[in-house]
Amino acid sequence: MKQWQLGPQPGWENLERTDRPEVGPEPGPHEVVVRLRAASLNYRDLLVASLPERHVAGRVPASDGAGEVVAVGGAVTKWQVGDRVVGLFFRDWRAGRFESGYHRSALGGPVDGVMRELAVFPEHGLARLPAGFSFLEGATLPCAALTAWTALFERGRFRPGQSVLLLGTGGVSVWALQLAVAAGAEVFITSSSDAKLDRARALGAAHTVNYHRFPKWDEEVLRLSGGRGVDHVLEVGGPGTLGCSIQALAAGGHLALIGVLTGLGASEASLFPLVAKNAEVSGIYVGHAEAFAAMVRSIDRSGVRPVIDRVFSFSDVPAAYAHLSGASHFGKVVIDFDAD
Ligand SMILES: NC(=O)c1ccc[n+]([C@@H]2O[C@H](COP(=O)([O-])OP(=O)(O)OC[C@H]3O[C@@H](n4cnc5c(N)ncnc54)[C@H](OP(=O)(O)O)[C@@H]3O)[C@@H](O)[C@H]2O)c1
Repeated sequence: MKQWQLGPQPGWENLERTDRPEVGPEPGPHEVVVRLRAASLNYRDLLVASLPERHVAGRVPASDGAGEVVAVGGAVTKWQVGDRVVGLFFRDWRAGRFESGYHRSALGGPVDGVMRELAVFPEHGLARLPAGFSFLEGATLPCAALTAWTALFERGRFRPGQSVLLLGTGGVSVWALQLAVAAGAEVFITSSSDAKLDRARALGAAHTVNYHRFPKWDEEVLRLSGGRGVDHVLEVGGPGTLGCSIQALAAGGHLALIGVLTGLGASEASLFPLVAKNAEVSGIYVGHAEAFAAMVRSIDRSGVRPVIDRVFSFSDVPAAYAHLSGASHFGKVVIDFDAD
């Protein structure tokens, strides 16, 4: 069985290939064995591998994998051998309000993740792929797509015709762009690159801002929105972008706090404008199984397909981490387990 694990020292450069003979694993009564065929990387995987406080030597990394069921436990009713599935980020968050204990069920964090050929899941920790999706496409869904879906539709209660601001063109933002456009949004998006902004326009973005050319990109968003601001901001930048995101938000708008691309430190952002705008602020951490199923039904109907920036072979997992870390990508970075 092919497998990668985190090395003894923090750093994705220290990932270790630890293949082992293919035996079992045997599923328990309510468990399912999946032969994983593809995985995708998220910025979180860089953090888990690199931050000393997150790094666990020997942990199998990555949350997002897709594959086919190869064995089911005796009490499993939901899945059959041959079903095409993805693993859910929080195996135990089925629906409803988040509970802190669910953190212990996060794949590729506290529990072993998907960068291996065979993995055992509880039957409630899996979801079906959208119709017609390849394993490579399905592997883009569990973290990035569900986070975007939760921010827009579960917590944001997006309504068609509203405006949405996305920061950068990484995995979460490009999935959010596609889901928002499919739902009838007016999308604003920023990027460091004009070429990436051209690609965002081709996917349906109405307004684009290069944040290198416009360091005060909130002013540009306000100008493009006629001074009104945007109804939803998906804040993936963290302390370095929060102030501009608050300024760009419309009165009565929804600010979804998602990411930390500018670091984990404190923000100097002025917070009173959130009060003056009667804004709603949500902390978003991926999402639950019920939301994932709703997202899959929506994708079935809209026909949206993920933007895959580049596919790496299983042997090249460290190169895939390096590519993600370099931030030249647009959309998702994916591993093809069958490509070696
Ligand atoms: N809370 C959650 O549930 C959750 C879930 C998923 C991700 N996240 C977090 O959300 C963030 C994005 O994750 P991801 O996996 O989508 O990352 P990613 O694919 O690695 O995104 C990287 C891209 O973000 C853009 N970027 C970097 N710095 C920026 C800045 N200062 N302003 C605007 N854009 C910037 C760049 O795009 P351009 O080159 O176009 O500028 C870069 O290529 C991360 O902090 C991640 O930890 C949180």
